[in-house]
Amino acid sequence: MCLSQAVEREWCDGDVSCAVVRIEPLHERWDLVEACAELLNAQWQRSMGARIHSLRQSSHSYPVCLLLLKGERRSQDEKVIGHARLSRVLGSRSLFVESVVVSSMLRGKGYGRILMEAVERYAKGRGCTRLCLTTHDKQHFYAHLGFVLSKPVQSVGTLASFMPMEVLHKFCRSTENEEEEKKCDVKLFNNPAPSTPSVLPPPPPPPPPPPPLSCPPPPPPPPISAPPPPPSCPPSSWAPVSQTLEQTPYTDNRGLPIFWMHKDI
Ligand SMILES: CC(C)(COP(=O)(O)OP(=O)(O)OC[C@H]1O[C@@H](n2cnc3c(N)ncnc32)[C@H](O)[C@@H]1OP(=O)(O)O)[C@@H](O)C(=O)NCCC(=O)NCCS
Repeated sequence: MCLSQAVEREWCDGDVSCAVVRIEPLHERWDLVEACAELLNAQWQRSMGARIHSLRQSSHSYPVCLLLLKGERRSQDEKVIGHARLSRVLGSRSLFVESVVVSSMLRGKGYGRILMEAVERYAKGRGCTRLCLTTHDKQHFYAHLGFVLSKPVQSVGTLASFMPMEVLHKFCRSTENEEEEKKCDVKLFNNPAPSTPSVLPPPPPPPPPPPPLSCPPPPPPPPISAPPPPPSCPPSSWAPVSQTLEQTPYTDNRGLPIFWMHKDI
């Protein structure tokens, strides 16, 4: 089924003009790649070449760039008014959502909700059960749409476009049921799973959980006579990770606070 038919909808916003809004994957609309790059660059400045190169990776086998489009299909009026990018999350039936943006002129009119609801439908339609994302400052928006705070996940991003999933999985063993994972068609694009022997060797022990991202390195040991200082960041194996919509223990690779969220769909 054509995705655009699945989510196409009309509504009037009190204006005489009625807008037709729909979602289409960018890789089915390469004619809109520049418009999409402009939309993204208006929010997150980057060279057009690099932006288009990154957008060109959109494919059915992920990452998928979804476009929110307004106006008659393939007409002069057709506009890219929103974008979201979906990638696989290793070892799960989850998708990682990023680069969510609505055209600045159209914010606050419900398009962000429409975009995220369409993302949900798309993910469900592909057999996925969870959306994950990070945000620096839109945690209240996502919470309003049903997302909750969560722990970091490992997204595949563009890695999967040049590395087979089998190799990626060797770097990250799932704690979730692998059979469940196979149901999600995000895992089915590459080579089929090898046939399973009837008696399996014991699974390797799971890797230790990653340390909290904002943890500073441990301080140097104190002089023998001084009492030990309280740990500034408890060992990750037992550290309770407390987070609220106002405060997060996580940081991004630039050291900026970042909120991890997910929504079961
Ligand atoms: C975030 C963004 C996509 C939201 O799109 P939008 O079109 O403005 O959002 P909507 O008008 O659809 O809002 C949807 C709902 O969320 C609510 N909402 C929007 N922003 C909110 C916020 N910051 N806090 C709490 N609620 C918020 C709205 O009130 C609305 O509620 P309702 O549907 O119950 O009436 C848009 O503001 C944007 O593109 N921002 C710049 C890019 C960006 O920061 N992206 C996020 C990267 S993580």
